[in-house]
Amino acid sequence: MDKKSKLEEIKNKALADDKLPLRTKETNLVFGVGNPEAEILFIGEGPGYWENVKSEPFVGPAGRLLDKLLELINIKRQEVFITNVVMHRPPNNRDPLPQEIEAYRPYLDAIIETISPKIIVTLGRFSMAKFLPNAAISKVHGNPSLVKWGDDEITVVPMYHPAAALRSNEIMVKLREDFLKLPAILAGLNKAKEKEEKEEEKQMALF
Ligand code: URA
Repeated sequence: MDKKSKLEEIKNKALADDKLPLRTKETNLVFGVGNPEAEILFIGEGPGYWENVKSEPFVGPAGRLLDKLLELINIKRQEVFITNVVMHRPPNNRDPLPQEIEAYRPYLDAIIETISPKIIVTLGRFSMAKFLPNAAISKVHGNPSLVKWGDDEITVVPMYHPAAALRSNEIMVKLREDFLKLPAILAGLNKAKEKEEKEEEKQMALF
């Protein structure tokens, strides 16, 4: 099954899951959007008012900033994939609870597994905690970490949440700087992969 169909399948499962804790008559599933073949996967916190209305992540003020940050590094929103740790809007935009994050985890993990991105960018502390449970965002933001993920390793770049940047000049500057590092991080990973493939070819030639 191709990645697009697999993501459809996961979404349909989530749509049919009436045990999801934040699902109410007023909330729509905000599954995720973007390119199934994305090299970069962004994970935020949870849908807000506009995300719930449009069933799409990051379409309110924080989303407009995310779009501008992507523009800054010449990446189109349609090239990446964007999702959240919880997929229904928490009441009054409160923080998601640990048991809520846990309830949506199988769907988020299935998205990660399917897309298998080169980089995961976490936006804010809730998605960062999924991969770097003991990290302080003020210390680690913008720095890639190789994180164990099943039998694999995955590069995670924690960043501040765009909504936090909308409230603080200092965070806006840091978030901008961190985004500017992304192309070099991606290029470094691609180069390392190329080198590994060349080594493998060389070994094969010896056979
Ligand atoms: N904030 C988030 O964390 N996610 C969204 O989708 C929108 C705002």
